[in-house]
Amino acid sequence: MIRVEDLNRHFGGFRAVDGASLTIETGSITGLIGPNGAGKSTLFNVIAGVLPPTSGRVFMDGEDITGLPPHALFHKGLLRTFQLAHEFSSMTVRENLMMVPGGQAGETIWKTWFQRGRIAREEAELRRKADEVLDFLTIRHLAHEKAGNLSGGQKKLLELGRTMMVDAKIVFLDEVGAGVNRTLLMTIADAIIRLNKERGYTFCVIEHDMDFIGKLCDPVIVMAEGHVLAQGSAADIMKNEAVIEAYLGTGLKNKDMVGA
Ligand SMILES: Nc1ncnc2c1ncn2[C@@H]1O[C@H](COP(=O)(O)OP(=O)(O)OP(=O)(O)O)[C@@H](O)[C@H]1O
Ligand SMILES: [Mg+2]
Repeated sequence: MIRVEDLNRHFGGFRAVDGASLTIETGSITGLIGPNGAGKSTLFNVIAGVLPPTSGRVFMDGEDITGLPPHALFHKGLLRTFQLAHEFSSMTVRENLMMVPGGQAGETIWKTWFQRGRIAREEAELRRKADEVLDFLTIRHLAHEKAGNLSGGQKKLLELGRTMMVDAKIVFLDEVGAGVNRTLLMTIADAIIRLNKERGYTFCVIEHDMDFIGKLCDPVIVMAEGHVLAQGSAADIMKNEAVIEAYLGTGLKNKDMVGA
């Protein structure tokens, strides 16, 4: 579904992404791991149109999508989760979901919403869809809760839910499990697996938690110093000498590799 060819993204003289090439197969839940500073988030940002590349190409289903802005990619079904914007925290969970289909999160959609007027039929359809998403994520009971009152993990579920309001093909998740408690982390993992199996979503998931990666992802791509170091099953990756070395080099992150 996605092919990245010799991608570079430099910041001044610093090569955050340095000749990265990889593919994400349709229907996969592909993991992207690597030590801090490996260039994972930068790679995501380039693929998702948030940052222009210094050089290199990104293809989606064979079409060159390099440098397309996020809203254009959104309409092609390429989504990246965003942290809930601050101004949405006073809106309910259901309202946050109902905002999505107009396009990107942010002020423009808010304006569009009012300019367009509240056509009752459209609104009823959106509400139905939002409730379906809430049921799928098992958080229907939070429909009327203000988004700002949600726990960190519940916010992550809502971010994932927002991708379900449109017909997503591929969803990029950057550390969706960070700071989330174990129970909610498993709820998020289950939702990802069900979206993959039942709705045919392809995922690319950045995560440091190797339990989460091991449960969810095949294949796993390892990045280090801006390029792809290895690719394989989670089990193979954890035995790979070059990978272990890359993590050891960063000291602190060893524990992630042994799941401690
Ligand atoms: N806007 C920027 N300007 C300058 N340097 C940047 C910028 N964004 C990222 N970098 C640098 O690029 C490198 C890669 O950063 P990136 O955030 O992509 O790493 P990462 O693999 O996502 O790391 P982590 O696991 O800690 O999230 C880092 O050294 C970072 O400091
Ligand atoms: Mg990152």
